[in-house]
Amino acid sequence: MQPRSDVLVLFGGTGDLARKKIYPALLDLVRHGKLKVPVVAVARSGWTKELLQERVQNELAVRAEKDPESLEKLISLLTYVEGDYRDAATFERLREALGGAQYPLHYLAIPPEMFATVAAGLGASGCAQGARIVVEKPFGRDLASAIALNATLLEVFSESQIFRIDHYLGKESVQNLLVFRFANAFLEPIWNNRFVKSVQITMAERFGVEGRGMFYEQAGAIRDVVQNHLLEVVSYLSMDPPESAKIGDIHDEQLKVLRSVAPLTAREVVRGQVRGYLDEKDVSPDSTVETYAALRLHIDSQRWNGVPFLIRTGKYLATTATEVLVTLRDAPLTQIAGGEPNYVRFRLSPTIEITIGARIKKGGDALVSEPAELNMVDNTPDDGIEPYDRLLGDAMAGDKTLFAREDFVEAAWAVVDPILGDAVPLSHYNRETWGPAEADALARDVGGWHVPKS
Ligand code: BG6
Repeated sequence: MQPRSDVLVLFGGTGDLARKKIYPALLDLVRHGKLKVPVVAVARSGWTKELLQERVQNELAVRAEKDPESLEKLISLLTYVEGDYRDAATFERLREALGGAQYPLHYLAIPPEMFATVAAGLGASGCAQGARIVVEKPFGRDLASAIALNATLLEVFSESQIFRIDHYLGKESVQNLLVFRFANAFLEPIWNNRFVKSVQITMAERFGVEGRGMFYEQAGAIRDVVQNHLLEVVSYLSMDPPESAKIGDIHDEQLKVLRSVAPLTAREVVRGQVRGYLDEKDVSPDSTVETYAALRLHIDSQRWNGVPFLIRTGKYLATTATEVLVTLRDAPLTQIAGGEPNYVRFRLSPTIEITIGARIKKGGDALVSEPAELNMVDNTPDDGIEPYDRLLGDAMAGDKTLFAREDFVEAAWAVVDPILGDAVPLSHYNRETWGPAEADALARDVGGWHVPKS
């Protein structure tokens, strides 16, 4: 049994991520009785404990309308440590603030280039002892920097203490990919290249960088969501059945399949930038960062050889929705099937749906078919449990099941490494479209890109 963390330290505790995702998650944890320990926000914002409490109070007021006691409780748990992460004195102050805590959880909600500095500061000050550390994606900027960052973290923490967070793994709909695949015996016999023609994943966002220009300029779509969220989804869709439901076995199979994904070449990728992006706040006027990416993966395995896995994602697109479409091969009797394939569609957000596309007899004299859908719908996104609630709670309990393992992170970087930066020329597209026309060629032989419903 792992000890529960007895204090939560939030580096970047006045920042955007903390405001948008972490404090709301903490409120939910308090509400469910899962957070009773002090929360120490660390930042260099010139704030005080009182100001932090006031800001969090205001930020969460609407969310806590029906449960003001939980908000009050959360506010009473908050303290603040001011300081620069490069300054040893900051960590001395932190050590004092930790009091007698034995199992701190340090959450790094800060720009990745600061991870190593903070880890070193925690080590040197003794704050790393008995601690766990949670790092946000993207973990590194490429394969080489991910390996280097991991080595730095391992100088201070052991692998069992490091929690690499990818909130997609905390999504109910993403976990459902695993459950649906391995809880239904009818699926496994057809989940291979004899029956599956293509797999498509579209993660579309109608909104843009929303004031995160500074972060986005360092990331772009490939580093922001492909290397992590979408390759996790690919691995859940394509992995072999694990030996058991134990986490090590699941991670092993995810790793195995990701290692058989061929590293991408420029010909298999389209990078796009939306017109108008250069006018966004904190964006360089000659930025070549992509706000859209489309790619075609090849999995070199007995099961998947010959089946294209297509991914596309972008900001400022026509709608906000994430869907997976697994298209099956055509039924042999074309007179009846009409040359139309069956499919399985997983809608991952904003609603959760699993749909099987089948064909049934069309009313009338002829033996011909028409499309029908078997729909398994749950319209409550994430069942009321937000990914950050789940993952933070798990990290505090020392449960690594839903966190990315280093070997997986590195295998994911190896897939995208050759196409990072300006390796692929930039195309342009207009807002509220489906991205640059250049991407059409990637999906031509599978009948074009799947368009998620809005
Ligand atoms: C984050 C990315 O990891 O995931 C954002 O940094 C993206 O750019 C977000 O918008 C999408 O997650 P969700 O859960 O809102 O679909």
